Amino acid sequence: MAAKQKSLMDVIVALAKRRGFVMPTSEIYGGIGSSYDYGPLGIEMKRKLADLWWNNMVRQHENIVGIDSSIIYHPKTWEASGHVDGFVDPLVDCKECKARFKADDLIGHVKKAKGVDEPPLNGKGELDPGHPSYAQVPCPNCGQRGTLTEPRSFNLMFKTFIGPVEQGASAVYLRPETAQGIYVDYPQVQTVARLKPPFGIAQIGKAFRNEITPGNFIFRTREFEQMEMQFFIKPGEDEEWMDYWKAERMKFWRDVCGIREENLRFHEHGEHELAHYAKAAFDIEYNFPFGWDEFEGIHNRTDYDLKRHAEYSGKEKDLMYFDDQTRERYLPYIVETSAGLNRGLLAILLDAYYEDEVEGQQRVVMRLDPKLAPITAAVFPLQKKDGLPEIAQEITRELKKNFNVFFDMTGNIGRRYRRQDEAGTPFCITVDYETKETGTVTIRDRDTLEQPERPKIEDLSRILFEKLNS
Ligand code: GAP
Repeated sequence: MAAKQKSLMDVIVALAKRRGFVMPTSEIYGGIGSSYDYGPLGIEMKRKLADLWWNNMVRQHENIVGIDSSIIYHPKTWEASGHVDGFVDPLVDCKECKARFKADDLIGHVKKAKGVDEPPLNGKGELDPGHPSYAQVPCPNCGQRGTLTEPRSFNLMFKTFIGPVEQGASAVYLRPETAQGIYVDYPQVQTVARLKPPFGIAQIGKAFRNEITPGNFIFRTREFEQMEMQFFIKPGEDEEWMDYWKAERMKFWRDVCGIREENLRFHEHGEHELAHYAKAAFDIEYNFPFGWDEFEGIHNRTDYDLKRHAEYSGKEKDLMYFDDQTRERYLPYIVETSAGLNRGLLAILLDAYYEDEVEGQQRVVMRLDPKLAPITAAVFPLQKKDGLPEIAQEITRELKKNFNVFFDMTGNIGRRYRRQDEAGTPFCITVDYETKETGTVTIRDRDTLEQPERPKIEDLSRILFEKLNS
């Protein structure tokens, strides 16, 4: 089971590269650790997933609006949010071989190392970084004893400088989450959009974390995209809204994106797992080849963030909501839904991978939901002659006004189908000799392999619209 699962990841990584979904970045220079580029198929699919999320969250909720904030915020934002002090990983270095480890990851080695006391956990379940056991642990890389340093705090935020002088005062950070951009913009957005709690503000954008142990392909990278929505509510209504958003978000991945139910589950954070801002947190996890892991979190952030921004900005009054009907003034509570676009995409790719047999031949087929498939339809002329390519090209031009459509006349028809199956294209339209007689074509369904009808060329747009929205 484990070997099979591991190989599924390898298979997806290879397919993603071969077909231009996702590939290592700047490969001519040997790439750079855990940074990936999205190719022609990958970017189509990523945009479609982001659009589905936007549609589901912003367009379909009257009380949710969107923003697109900058990546570099006022640096005080990160002091207020707790990231300057709290967004850290304790690291241990080997003085001999220069390998670097997260102190938390060393606990396994501490447990295994003979004659080494296990470091005690503090009240929050964290390792005691000052405990002498670390010094006795052999380096997991080179095996030497006494070469590991004391754990040192390492902040995961990428720091840079505004302007030409690299001085403390000009230091800024690349945002490690998009959420804070929403909090600092909230008074303005609430006013211009005339929102009353409960209401939400959503955004999709890049976030950056200098992860110590990136890996598992696009699962953990240093640069990634988040799709976050912050829901502003009356204090005390947080638990019922947590239940609401938990259900909504699970429905999105299962019913809208088509991830199989058996590969999805919730994980509730225990006391020791909760982030510094959260009163309660539920992850939506996918059954990845390397185990169940999170790709979206639903967090009850209470009034933690707004309180801190009130304190650090001195603008408490601006951050409070005034209800002119009840004459109440309060800092709203926040329930957050925070999804990873790249991780969501990885889960969908893994979930869609199938191998089956067609006419005695093995085929690889990506059973992507048609709404997410990078190419909605491929158009093939049966032969390269007799005017069939011209008709197919004209159909392609017309359909391209509304869909991503691909024209292909290279290789035999079976080969062309296989290429589209691997790309996840749900519909293949073939122009044959009957097309010249009747103005009709065949549409082959990727999953059933059936071609149940011969629609007229002029009906193709409507049929594709219906198929995407059924
Ligand atoms: N605003 C809350 C927040 O950022 P998080 O659990 O740290 O919460 C939310 O991140 C989501 O962002 C994760 O579920 C994951 O999908 C994505 N994410 C976080 N770190 C990531 C990384 N290094 N690479 C890819 N995606 C990441």
